[in-house]
Amino acid sequence: MELMEMNKSFQGRDFLSLYDYTPEEIHYLIDLAIDLKYKQKKGIPHPYLAGKTLGMIFQKSSTRTRVSFEVGMYQLGGMALFLSSNDLQIGRGEPVKDTARVLSRYLDGIMIRTFSHDEVLELAQYADIPVINGLTDLLHPCQVLADLMTIKEHKGQLAGLKLAYVGDGNNMAHSLMYGGAKMGMDVVIASPAGYVPDETVTRQSTAVATETGGSISITGNIEEAVKDADVIYTDVWASMGQEEEAAERKKAFAAYQVNNELLKMAKSDVIVLHCLPAHRGEEITDEVIEGPHSVVFDEAENRLHAQKAIMALLMA
Ligand code: CP
Ligand code: NVA
Repeated sequence: MELMEMNKSFQGRDFLSLYDYTPEEIHYLIDLAIDLKYKQKKGIPHPYLAGKTLGMIFQKSSTRTRVSFEVGMYQLGGMALFLSSNDLQIGRGEPVKDTARVLSRYLDGIMIRTFSHDEVLELAQYADIPVINGLTDLLHPCQVLADLMTIKEHKGQLAGLKLAYVGDGNNMAHSLMYGGAKMGMDVVIASPAGYVPDETVTRQSTAVATETGGSISITGNIEEAVKDADVIYTDVWASMGQEEEAAERKKAFAAYQVNNELLKMAKSDVIVLHCLPAHRGEEITDEVIEGPHSVVFDEAENRLHAQKAIMALLMA
């Protein structure tokens, strides 16, 4: 089937969590992202969103998300508006449900990065245009779509691969659990006590994995997690909004570092991913990020292509 033909099933939907999409739909998004990457590199125009506008609400900092969404809209023939919550009336207390209905009268889609996942759910409930989750404290689904695309490009497949995530049971861990389970991967999360993933995400992703032939496991044993892994993933020990806990977290996560010693326990062709920004010398060493197993800059690039696929399908 020609890519873009399946787009009717995506039109007008929100992209809040990979849990809301079927394995077939996620495969389709990845394949469209790969197609759009090819078109962009070959200079083949693909103005699927000509004349459309995306509003981008940011309550937290961003390099990749902001730039890739803005550039992506431009490449699709549309435009993007950067809306800092410092400037929006939402920052002065205007209700989310009013903001949602007002913005729906001007825009064709909203991307939001904020703290509370419930706030994004409320925005999506009241908006009658697609809402895309650009990161909450709970989830980061756009990042994981780009991660799955990157793994597929490097490994040629997703199902049956072992992905070991080393570190905090945070938004990245949660979205990797949902995305990995949907793709039939074996996802192992190695986190210290007190920092394990959310119970609902664990229960739901485990149920999904049962259907797809994948698996979800959570352990405190880092060596067991990375043994024979095809993919190793890590993220910062203290996420945005947790700056005050940084010292305490440094102690709790001291052993949870992706370094060359740890890589030796994985498969010899293991690839290493990190959503970035990275704290070299904490969750990952400089030699691993700069080393032959690292695909972190392909991964960062793929944010652009993966999000173009999301926007093209939802906002067309
Ligand atoms: N990985 C990621 O979302 O990066 P930014 O915080 O720079 O957007
Ligand atoms: N867990 C990190 C991801 C940043 C892209 C954070 O939320 O800060």
